[in-house]
Amino acid sequence: MVAEGYLPPWFSVAPMMEWTDTHYRTLARLVSKHAWLYTEMLAAETIVYQEGNLDRFLAYTPEQHPVVLQIGGNNLENLAKATELANPYCYDEINFNCGCPSPKVAGHGCFGVRLMLDPKFVAEAMSVIAANTDVPVSVKCRIGVDDHDSYNELCDFIYKVSSLSPTRHFIIHSRKALLNGISPAENRSIPPLKYEYFYALLRDFPDLRFTINGGINSINEVNMARRAGAHGVMVGRAAYSNPWKILGHVDTAVYGAPSSGITRRQIIEEYQVYGDSVLGKYGRRPNIRDVIKPLLGFFYSEPGNSLWKRKADAAFQTCTTVKSFFDETLVAIPDSVLDSPIGELPSASDDRFANIHSLLPPRYEATMASVTMTASFIGGATLASRSPINSSGRGLLVAKAAAAAEGEKVKLNSETKKESSNNGRRDMMFAAAAAAIYSAAGIALAEPKPGTPEAKKAYAPVCVTMPTAKICRN
Ligand SMILES: Cc1cc2nc3c(=O)[nH]c(=O)nc-3n(C[C@H](O)[C@H](O)[C@H](O)COP(=O)(O)O)c2cc1C
Repeated sequence: MVAEGYLPPWFSVAPMMEWTDTHYRTLARLVSKHAWLYTEMLAAETIVYQEGNLDRFLAYTPEQHPVVLQIGGNNLENLAKATELANPYCYDEINFNCGCPSPKVAGHGCFGVRLMLDPKFVAEAMSVIAANTDVPVSVKCRIGVDDHDSYNELCDFIYKVSSLSPTRHFIIHSRKALLNGISPAENRSIPPLKYEYFYALLRDFPDLRFTINGGINSINEVNMARRAGAHGVMVGRAAYSNPWKILGHVDTAVYGAPSSGITRRQIIEEYQVYGDSVLGKYGRRPNIRDVIKPLLGFFYSEPGNSLWKRKADAAFQTCTTVKSFFDETLVAIPDSVLDSPIGELPSASDDRFANIHSLLPPRYEATMASVTMTASFIGGATLASRSPINSSGRGLLVAKAAAAAEGEKVKLNSETKKESSNNGRRDMMFAAAAAAIYSAAGIALAEPKPGTPEAKKAYAPVCVTMPTAKICRN
């Protein structure tokens, strides 16, 4: 899962629209060498329709590695093409958004978190994405949507996506999403966090990797979450609103690297060179505001911060270079703040995760319903129902399904095939790949009647892919 040459994603900065743009990521990388950085979500359609203008959306400085591209969408053809178009930009992982509750995305656009209700489609999407890139793929999701919020439903999602696609890494924003009209911001605070679901996933899917996300606000909490077993910890708002205090401790306190001793003045000097080199690269954008925006939390709660912000407001009107902006404003910040390296990590308060293992829900029970649903998917009955890859596109057909568990990858280039033929072959390929898995597990594709001894015999080997799971067949 880990791109060569980088330490694992023990700490990552969450994808955040209009926040984790290339400027923020440049700043973040100056503060932390090891944090994994996620892009804002880019809709597959944006990439596809901006084919002549890709640098504006996808380019970044090489120093930003390790960096993960998050894409969103619900059209397989566009997801395939977007992934392929992003390839030359050498992202270290491609992440698929199944967590965004914004009405534009989950409502009208019908992707983001709404896709959690359609794990079969997510598996298809992940197979298509994986087939068009050489780097690992991952899913970022919530723990549920509206009333579909039981632990078993979350597990069904994880189970289906991981067994029918090459996805091995899931980032879990540990609260459900409500699609009943509350705003995206409210959807990040109103539904309660249920970290116990996250840790239960670690228990029930020991072959997968899970990154915890949601409400983790300090490096001490990052380390507590990791000590409780999380493979990785993703921080969003705290890493944006207070980048120095969060990112400044990551390399030493999370990755165990020696302190670099870098100061905020040194970071600002480097960032200024970067900022002035990109100003106006695409006509009027980026402008001074775009480039300075990631720094607005850089002196959070420090002496001089309020005055600095007031001076910044004025300087936005008058300054035409980043250098002049800093010349005008930094006088507000005392040298002691600018020239001190990051201090000691404050001592930890109560461990939020200390008792989490006593709160876990019962083990995942793969119900007959979920198993038969998966089996019907394998039979290809519903495969072509959404966003079929048609012959007008690049015609890259992909059948990876659960075969990815064995590292298998099947690509079928059918540029000249008719649409009907495409859909038929696509179904066939999914069915074939899935059949390979099921035959490896000893499961017949002809579905036995639920509840019969034949069914018990046939479905029992599903356990093979989830050693700790308890299969319910009563
Ligand atoms: C301004 C903003 C924009 C966001 N945009 C995205 C996005 O593009 N894709 C995504 O998966 N999550 C997005 N999120 C959600 C975050 O990635 C993260 O899951 C959420 O903020 C919870 O983590 P936190 O409590 O550490 O902030 C966004 C959050 C914020 C605050």
